[in-house]
Amino acid sequence: MRIDIITVLPELLKSPFSASIMQRAQTKGHVEIHVHNLRDFSDDKHRNVDDYQYGGGAGMVMSVGPISKAIETLQAQRKYDELIYMTPDGDLLEQSTCNQLSLAQNLLILCGHYKGVDQRIRDLYITKELSIGSYVLSGGELAAAIVVDAVVRLIPGVLNDETSALTDSFQDGLLAPPVYTRPPEFKGMQVPEVLLGGNPKDVAAWREEKAYERTKERRPDLLGD
Ligand code: ADE
Repeated sequence: MRIDIITVLPELLKSPFSASIMQRAQTKGHVEIHVHNLRDFSDDKHRNVDDYQYGGGAGMVMSVGPISKAIETLQAQRKYDELIYMTPDGDLLEQSTCNQLSLAQNLLILCGHYKGVDQRIRDLYITKELSIGSYVLSGGELAAAIVVDAVVRLIPGVLNDETSALTDSFQDGLLAPPVYTRPPEFKGMQVPEVLLGGNPKDVAAWREEKAYERTKERRPDLLGD
């Protein structure tokens, strides 16, 4: 997979991809992540990428020129499965969306800033608008990093134990059950007997029950009716 990210703050996107699983995914060739500075596509001598809002009001708007040039330059080199715009008014990011996106060959992600991008960019180029939650960040970069992380770890081969993505919270519509490791007793608290016993059928039944209980308590919305 190849992921291109267009941003005014490329430095914000360095560290999220330079450690642990994201780094290994790149070294092993499962994903290429390319971060593009939007200012490189500005014709303005001050490398400006924003302007005042028509109709007035506080806050700048990202102009059509540089974004259009950036997108079209990249589109001339390959076909993108999705052109994603990170915005608080987008569709809420769900595991199902991440699963879908993990099958893509090429993704392009545009990070919004200030009051957002000129609506015509969204109408012309964007195929998917994503929000990571009902709160407003200073820009789309951290949200884009979250999308990339959630998607890349699902690419086959990225996780060492491939089954571990399958047992994540949400993958079966439930939250994940509690987990334990050594020691068997800590401050008087015991690891549940069934996990120590090692009967795979009993363990599976216990995990399913706990996953259901936890989901019912914390996220009943996931269970429907
Ligand atoms: N940009 C600012 N806030 C955001 C959010 N919650 N999700 C996605 N992009 C954003």
